[in-house]
Amino acid sequence: MLSPAPSQCPSITSREQFRSDVLAGLRAPQKVLPSKYFYDQRGSQLFDQICELPEYYLTRTEVGIMEEHAGEMGELIGPRSMLIELGSGSSMKTGWLLESTPLPLCYVPVDISGEHLLEAADRIAEQFTDIEVLPVCADFSAKFELPETETDIDRRVVYFPGSTIGNFRPEPARQLLAQIAELVGPGGGLLIGFDLAKDRQTLEAAYDDADNVTAAFNKNLLRRINQELDGDFSLDQFRHQAVYNESHSRVEMHLVSRTDQEVRIGKAQVPFSAGESIRTELSHKYRPDSFADLVQSAGFAPGQIWTDPKQLFAVGYYPTAS
Ligand code: AVI
Repeated sequence: MLSPAPSQCPSITSREQFRSDVLAGLRAPQKVLPSKYFYDQRGSQLFDQICELPEYYLTRTEVGIMEEHAGEMGELIGPRSMLIELGSGSSMKTGWLLESTPLPLCYVPVDISGEHLLEAADRIAEQFTDIEVLPVCADFSAKFELPETETDIDRRVVYFPGSTIGNFRPEPARQLLAQIAELVGPGGGLLIGFDLAKDRQTLEAAYDDADNVTAAFNKNLLRRINQELDGDFSLDQFRHQAVYNESHSRVEMHLVSRTDQEVRIGKAQVPFSAGESIRTELSHKYRPDSFADLVQSAGFAPGQIWTDPKQLFAVGYYPTAS
């Protein structure tokens, strides 16, 4: 059962916002570019390819955990629930959960990419004819309205897979989780995928694969700046780098200038010295206890986690604290 088309997707970040974020980032002492700008059409295609890479263990490990434990997760979510998936994209990991959650159930996929969202919602509604599917086109990192349902709902559960939480620094991550706790309210829950800390070699290979797909994904930011903001980055003059920063328990992606050079973006000039980097992404890795501390600081009660035999990745369920 699919609801009528969602209201117009709010316009994604404007070009002016993109320009001002890029220039502010490139004028900072440690040059930075916000990782949200990775995901134009080409960036999203490259990310889909990353998810299939042998080195990028995250996706297949999470899928394995979902396949194996969806029954227990579905029992915890329970009947008469609204299951809200943040950044649902193609709703790839949701099938097992929808199959395993007792009816009646309402599924609310939330994504900024309207086209992707509606395609996936159609597919889910065709496959699960007893589930009410209500897509919402929104940026989940800001507050958004939940839709009215025909199904009688007792509780709300947010599903936030993919370790996307890891791309937020600790304080913004806590704020986002607190916003989720408020959205689901008392009696609600959070089912969330997060990546576990592990050896440097595995982590760095996952973000610097042999086929250079991640390098192309990283450099896509520069290509976008050239195309959309009249930039003249020479992509060959920057090298992709992925380093595990152990003291912050995060993988950092950088683009390192190969030479002293000056890059033009519209009318602005940005100088680079040889070896200077632009930091483009942080991807935090957690221990189960450090993640439990994070979710509890945001208003959730202690929950339970499922992991894989090699303890590479985890999915946790946390009810809201009463
Ligand atoms: C989307 N996010 C969880 C990915 C990650 O692993 O941090 C993005 C990514 N960056 C490079 N590879 C994948």
